[in-house]
Amino acid sequence: MAELSKTIDCIICGSCVVDILVRPVPLETSIGGGRLIGVDPIEVTTGGIVSNSGIAMSRLGMRAVALSYVGADQWGHLLRDRYREEGLLNEHLVTHPEGPTSTTAVLIDQSGERSFAHCVGAPELLDRDFFLQRLDLFGQSRMMLLGYYSLMPRLEADLAEIFAEIRQRGCLTALDAAGDGGSLEPLANILPHLDVYVPSHAEASHQTGKEDPRKIIGTFRENGAVGLLGVKLGSEGALLQTAAGEWIDVPAVEAPAPVVDTTGAGDSFYAGLLTGLLRNMDVAAAGRLAAACGACCVTGLGATEGLRSYEATARLAGLT
Ligand SMILES: Nc1ncnc2c1ncn2[C@@H]1O[C@H](COP(=O)(O)OP(=O)(O)OP(=O)(O)O)[C@@H](O)[C@H]1O
Ligand SMILES: [Mg+2]
Repeated sequence: MAELSKTIDCIICGSCVVDILVRPVPLETSIGGGRLIGVDPIEVTTGGIVSNSGIAMSRLGMRAVALSYVGADQWGHLLRDRYREEGLLNEHLVTHPEGPTSTTAVLIDQSGERSFAHCVGAPELLDRDFFLQRLDLFGQSRMMLLGYYSLMPRLEADLAEIFAEIRQRGCLTALDAAGDGGSLEPLANILPHLDVYVPSHAEASHQTGKEDPRKIIGTFRENGAVGLLGVKLGSEGALLQTAAGEWIDVPAVEAPAPVVDTTGAGDSFYAGLLTGLLRNMDVAAAGRLAAACGACCVTGLGATEGLRSYEATARLAGLT
């Protein structure tokens, strides 16, 4: 019955960034001292989990909602416009009166190596009240995804309570990490309130102090995790464990075109996984859709250029 009253498939919350791509920049030598560097036309793309997973889920046919803060500046307008073009619902992108839109200048050298100049901006101001004031919105959604753990210090101590409240509204909860992954505190308090948690290997090993993906997942379980767990393993695919304890190896899907840029592969993987679960696939099939979505992502510059439709992605995953 609850399912019938749901008008949203997934709310994607947290990091929501404008990326300004500058290349080629010779990163091995100093660029200081007033040097002028000639570069290719400078491009602007969207980044952060709200953009990356949100646009990916929209391409996969899901009704996805972006939830975060942007600034009262031109970048906020740019994000709203891009989301609208992609069918990612933008009416819950809130303009913060003081915080600026999150922006990153991405300096890319000849080999594709990247250095970043980043302003965290308004999403850092997301707090407990922001989420607790929107529980009715979560009640309208089948699922939510928040990112990134370890990069939202203002929010982390309250995340266990926030996820518990959201879940009580019948909305499934998922979390992604980034940066170095942070530590097991306060993650251990959050794990019992998550339906899905699949960080990358580097993040998960920083959190647990373990290298072996099975031992990493074991540590999450010992700390009270009850949902679907996993570890993303880059070009090796991923290891998942269902809530019932079944291990599922997800092999990587061969990228359907040359690998151009792996930015956003993890966020695309998450989008495919959640889409599969929302379409009532079993975990193994949802994992294959996730791997296919990650494989599409790496074929394009930025996090979303390489993404394909549900039909094309499912075909690549061998699901049709
Ligand atoms: N070169 C590749 N070829 C095919 N698939 C890939 C490749 N790289 C990544 N993938 C797919 O994307 C998924 C996620 O990648 P990865 O493990 O790098 O996540 P991540 O570290 O969270 O990435 P990100 O840096 O985007 O946050 C992998 O599990 C895999 O299925
Ligand atoms: Mg990631």
